[in-house]
Amino acid sequence: MRSLIDILDLSVEEINDLCVVASDIIAEPAKYAHKCDGRILATLFFEPSTRTRLSFESAMLSLGGKVLGFSDANSSSTAKGESVSDTIEVVSGYCDIIAMRHPKEGAPLVATRRSLVPLINAGDGGHNHPTQTLTDLLTIYHKKGHFNDLTIGLCGDLKFGRTVHSLINAMSRYTGIKFVLISPEELKLPQYVKDEAIISKGIDFVETTDLEAAMPELDILYMTRIQKERFFHEEEYLRLKDSYILTPEKLETAKQDLCILHPLPRVNEISVAVDNDPRACYFEQARYGRFIRMALILKLLGIDADAADSTEASEPDLSDVLTDTFFCKNPRCITSVEQELPHLFKLADKEHHIYRCIYCESEAEKQ
Ligand code: NCD
Repeated sequence: MRSLIDILDLSVEEINDLCVVASDIIAEPAKYAHKCDGRILATLFFEPSTRTRLSFESAMLSLGGKVLGFSDANSSSTAKGESVSDTIEVVSGYCDIIAMRHPKEGAPLVATRRSLVPLINAGDGGHNHPTQTLTDLLTIYHKKGHFNDLTIGLCGDLKFGRTVHSLINAMSRYTGIKFVLISPEELKLPQYVKDEAIISKGIDFVETTDLEAAMPELDILYMTRIQKERFFHEEEYLRLKDSYILTPEKLETAKQDLCILHPLPRVNEISVAVDNDPRACYFEQARYGRFIRMALILKLLGIDADAADSTEASEPDLSDVLTDTFFCKNPRCITSVEQELPHLFKLADKEHHIYRCIYCESEAEKQ
């Protein structure tokens, strides 16, 4: 059984195949209208969502399947104190595939250990969001025609922006990539993402606070919302929330074929005056979300050409796991609320003896 927790669970070839299938779905939707007849998708959203949940539902309905689920943790047994593992074990008996979003980092990985059906991470806290990345990649595939030789500016909340972390991981596997990381000092890309996805691969990058100075060299500009819900102190959010606002004036020095992306929702980081610029691709990007999720559902259910892949497991590699010596102190990790979960770690850096929590990837601390 195959799940999708991290974008790196998919190989570059598989991502390419998904883009090809999604493009075929766009061209000939009728061919796919009954591929999932009799199948059920459960959408378990423990955290608010519009695009992701509705595009998953639209994807399954467009394939002839049915959907059930909840969009508010308060309307589920979580409100009574049920653990993620118990909810998943029960719900996976009612459906064929699950899309799950949770405010705690690592919750979908915990869920795969008990799920009886394939499970898709639809966003876990400020950690990862692999299906948004598939949406981003399908947009780049259609707009640029390739994934190599691109200078990609990522602007806004690079610390808590889970879409940013997954997109950087995905793009770091192509050649000729340069990342321009544009953020306030306080919201810089987490060191572990920088180390593992950029520095260790020798990828060119710069960190800056200046969007306008970076503009002329960019092929892609990925704007993001400051993630209000991840701050523990409101004053800090209020101080940082208007750090970047993209306006037509700021785009004057940009390339003519710049592709402006945003996972949405937008708050005020892109002025509505930019919407009519032909380089603004974010609403089109949101539409692509439905088609790439259709392709993903088919793949994980083993329907169609890729059926052979569906037996491959994406279980975490537990070979270098330690339990007693270390502790995860990330207050956003699923282990911070579910006390029964074993604290498991992977060896991230042999030389410096650095271990990371397998759920949220934070650096482990000694007990
Ligand atoms: C993003 C998310 O939820 O992480 N939105 C989305 O899935 N389309 C980005 C955001 O909420 O800012």
